[in-house]
Amino acid sequence: MGLLNSAVIGTGSYAPERILTNHDLEKMVDTSDEWIRRRTGMVERRIADKDTASSDLGIKASLKAIEMAGIDPLEIELIIIPTVTPDMFFPSTACFVQKGIGAANAAAFDLSAGCSGFLYGLTIADQFIKCGTYKTVLVIAAETLSKITDWTDRSTCVLFGDAAGAAILQATSEDKGIISSYLAADGNYSDFGLLGMPAGGSRAPSTHETIDKRMHYIKMRGRELFKLGVRAMAEAGVRAMEAGNLTLDDVALCIPHQANKRIIDAVGERLGLSEEKMFVNVDKYGNTSSATMAVALDEAIRADRVSPGDIVLIVAFGSGLTWAATAIRL
Ligand code: ACO
Repeated sequence: MGLLNSAVIGTGSYAPERILTNHDLEKMVDTSDEWIRRRTGMVERRIADKDTASSDLGIKASLKAIEMAGIDPLEIELIIIPTVTPDMFFPSTACFVQKGIGAANAAAFDLSAGCSGFLYGLTIADQFIKCGTYKTVLVIAAETLSKITDWTDRSTCVLFGDAAGAAILQATSEDKGIISSYLAADGNYSDFGLLGMPAGGSRAPSTHETIDKRMHYIKMRGRELFKLGVRAMAEAGVRAMEAGNLTLDDVALCIPHQANKRIIDAVGERLGLSEEKMFVNVDKYGNTSSATMAVALDEAIRADRVSPGDIVLIVAFGSGLTWAATAIRL
């Protein structure tokens, strides 16, 4: 028997109910609705409450994916959670979700690949399925960036939000599922000032000083990242299409990481994809890191933006620097 394919049999997403608008942000920092819309395309974002962790969002998104797939949680053999906002260092967020959804037969781990994590996760899941190790794998991108956002820093706090998106992959001999993936990283850009959170790990354990210096928040140099992100996502998209022997005409929808509407437009232009083929929901959720593409995939499927047989190209870039693309036939 040839290699099996990894079909997407269910997706789900969840964002907290509380909405933070650009006008709300005007009351918190020196910014304006006009600036945020023009520079980022963002209008509002969702914010988790004090007691809600990433796994809580991940559980809700996963249950929706399980319902769509029509499977028993006990069929899930592996849970992978890409996240930059785990519930805690350890145990893994994936173990909390495993318990929360009753997937007692699943191995579970978190993965760290910044905003590219969802595609790293799908690609790992695909390998386990192609090798015949597992039949059913759940990948959940779950993020609560509001918890690591410096709400006094206008250059970052307007950008981020909270959400989770889940996808269930299952082995199939049919001609559908993940067609090709491309993963990349360049540690020369690992400087946390470009994009990262400096303290709380072994490099700078939490102390009163790290807290006083506001080192437990996202740090970012936006303008540099902007250019890197456009180049990286376009390159990844091309590589994944080449690996899958696909042309632009084959792509029904491109789901780019939702970091900034201007970045999305520039990636579409570089790839040569029309505006209608570029999925955008950054206006509703802001940047939810690894979760943006998982939420977008679920929304596109549920809104019938895509149909069975269509090919979706997902492209991402994130802290590390990491970048990635995955082409999927639904
Ligand atoms: N409101 C009003 N003015 C602001 C704000 C704000 N919220 N933030 C910055 N400004 C000011 C700056 O101080 C600057 O003022 P100056 O000209 O007087 O110095 C001016 O606006 C322009 O600032 P720039 O940083 O040059 O603005 P730019 O057009 O580059 O937009 C942005 C900034 C939105 C951050 C953009 O660079 C961007 O999106 N970068 C990419 C970010 C990204 O991709 N992050 C993704 C990875 S993060 C993750 O996914 C977890």
